[in-house]
Amino acid sequence: MKLFEVYPIYDLHIKKGQGAWVYDDRGRKYLDFYGGHAVISIGHTHPHYVAAIKKQIDSLAFYSNSIKNQLQIDLAEKLGQLSGYEDYSLFLVNSGAEANENALKLASFHNDRSQVISFRHGFHGRTSAAVNVTDNAKIIAPINRGFKNIALDFGDKEGVSAALSGGNVSSIIVEGLQGIAGIYEPGADFLQFLQEQASLHGAVLILDEVQSGYGRTGNFFAHQIAKDLRPDLITVAKGMGNGFPIGGVLISPNFEARYGLLGTTFGGNHLACAAGLAVLEVIEQENLLDHARTMGRKLSTALKQMKDVVEVRGSGLMLGLEMPYVVKDLRKELLFDHKLFVGSAANANTLRLLPPLNVTEDEVNTCLEILQHALKKGKSKITAT
Ligand SMILES: Cc1ncc(COP(=O)(O)O)c(C=O)c1O
Repeated sequence: MKLFEVYPIYDLHIKKGQGAWVYDDRGRKYLDFYGGHAVISIGHTHPHYVAAIKKQIDSLAFYSNSIKNQLQIDLAEKLGQLSGYEDYSLFLVNSGAEANENALKLASFHNDRSQVISFRHGFHGRTSAAVNVTDNAKIIAPINRGFKNIALDFGDKEGVSAALSGGNVSSIIVEGLQGIAGIYEPGADFLQFLQEQASLHGAVLILDEVQSGYGRTGNFFAHQIAKDLRPDLITVAKGMGNGFPIGGVLISPNFEARYGLLGTTFGGNHLACAAGLAVLEVIEQENLLDHARTMGRKLSTALKQMKDVVEVRGSGLMLGLEMPYVVKDLRKELLFDHKLFVGSAANANTLRLLPPLNVTEDEVNTCLEILQHALKKGKSKITAT
């Protein structure tokens, strides 16, 4: 059987990873400032993480959600403690899309409405309403019947108010910091506005922290730049498992659980929880929020001084480097000639930098030296976007 080819891929076989480094099948070493789509939070094969997963798989990899799982309870407790959301509850899933799908459904169940406000260039995952083809009317929420999305410009306060005044908006979904778009911050004021308006009109505010959460910006969640913000639902994945598939929805105390409302076979399995718990322990023990903030500051300050740079956006270790030309070739050159992994973005002129939260100062300097060298040459043929 062949693979179903849906991904444009680099001709590279990565065989090993350690910290901020990965190695190919020819033993060549690459500095990983991308973490495979922003997934690697505590570094590849962190010893505490590896030991926790090995220990767990030796005793039990999986049992379903029909039994008590102490690891889920421990994970929820630790997540509440480190994120500052101790009074919230946790629903565990396997990916970012699944977390958002469940958050949207939960909102729709909660207020019995079906419209969603989202923002242009935002990304929330690839699942659609699979439940529409599921023969069980009880689990089909209004939101699944002909999805009603209102897409607005990021920051469009008037648009938000106008849409909400219609009275059928179930939820507003917004990234804590737009990632794939090219690293765009919503700003504390806009987030605060969304919360006030959502609450005024009986809509649910969903903060998608799938990419921007888990310490990536130097706060546990990117939205925590807005001091009084307490979103109704917060979704997480990516860095939560450092490569092990796990996601979750953090749910405010205003939501009432009832049996059968949500569900999953694999979500919250023993192995995933052991991985998730190990990630949080490392974040806490190694003080990675502070570290991400410090390293991020160093990185962004130096990037701003480099040749031709138009703008450096983002915070902590979630940075966008905008150039005055399309960066596709530059990204390839960085990877193949300089052995540096960085990410692309919907904004074709922007590179995304997403190193592990425990990246060292030496590694930051190495990345800066590589970029300095590559950018110094400039771009002979500037392609407008
Ligand atoms: C902000 C955001 N939300 C959701 C997702 C979807 O996550 P997953 O690919 O795990 O389904 C992504 C993935 O890139 C993302 O960046």
